[in-house]
Amino acid sequence: MTIMEKLDAKLGNAVSAGADEIFASDVLEGLSKARKELPCRWFYDTRGSELFEEITSLPEYYPTRTEAQILTDSVAELSRLAGPRVAMIEYGAGAAVKTRILLDALETPLYYAPVDISDAFLRGVAEGLAEDYPDIAMRPIVGNFLSDLDIPVELQTAQRRLGFFPGSTIGNLSDAEITAFFTRARQQLGEDGMLVIGADLRKSPEILVPAYDDAAGVTAAFNKNLLVRINRELAADFDLERFQHKAVWNDVDSRIEMHLVSEVAQSVTLLGRRFDFVQGESIHTENSRKFTVPGLQALAQDCGWRALSVWEDPQKLFSLQMLG
Ligand code: AVI
Repeated sequence: MTIMEKLDAKLGNAVSAGADEIFASDVLEGLSKARKELPCRWFYDTRGSELFEEITSLPEYYPTRTEAQILTDSVAELSRLAGPRVAMIEYGAGAAVKTRILLDALETPLYYAPVDISDAFLRGVAEGLAEDYPDIAMRPIVGNFLSDLDIPVELQTAQRRLGFFPGSTIGNLSDAEITAFFTRARQQLGEDGMLVIGADLRKSPEILVPAYDDAAGVTAAFNKNLLVRINRELAADFDLERFQHKAVWNDVDSRIEMHLVSEVAQSVTLLGRRFDFVQGESIHTENSRKFTVPGLQALAQDCGWRALSVWEDPQKLFSLQMLG
């Protein structure tokens, strides 16, 4: 099986087999590894999504406001490059503020198609926008943006398709997933399609670490909420007081890693199985990769994309690129 086929099998399952079963098997598999890990995509239950929202306005967490400012400053040029009557497909929809900045600036966009695995969430997003944008047809797409998507045929009546993937969510993907994303996006958006992608940039750990370990403890609560979710949904007995949130900069892999570190030797029971932890053992819960502009362009180029334009903030904290 190729990496793409393995990813397809896994992600296809995540949509069809029911998220509950996949959650259970991901957790059991992750905790059974020599180096325990949990996939970060399970952070986002209702509470996790609320905590992430809170993170985005923390003083230490610069990415969201910086990206919104770059988008505001560049949107006129971006809209000129995109041209009129586009169909906009947003991958991992929900960046409401940024979506609106873009929709406000585009010249008579015809369609807005947010992509998410949650039908209910998508309906909320589309309803929220429909009132303010009566001339844009809302076409939510239920699915995982790393796998094949049912792109409505009518979107092809648009002049061009414009993908939007903000927030540096790309930084939470593995190398194989990044390749899968760029390859699929090329197929979905077409040869004349464009992709606007937000990516966080490499910088001093003195800025990075606090962004993932804020003084108010919101990111710690976000990380630990994964254990709360596992306790609730998988009949587990993680003692939250005995795990500590940790954010570390991994310079070799150019990423912030989030971990939950066991403060003592302990055992946890989950779906009737026992998992032992030695003191100081960690569960690796998230990678948040930090890119260089040429580094991301090289990854995109391998999958048939070339850079049309790049925008950064004056401090070069974050980048927005338009690929075509
Ligand atoms: C969603 N994603 C881009 C966030 C990030 O910065 O990697 C998730 C996050 N994790 C901790 N804080 C924010």
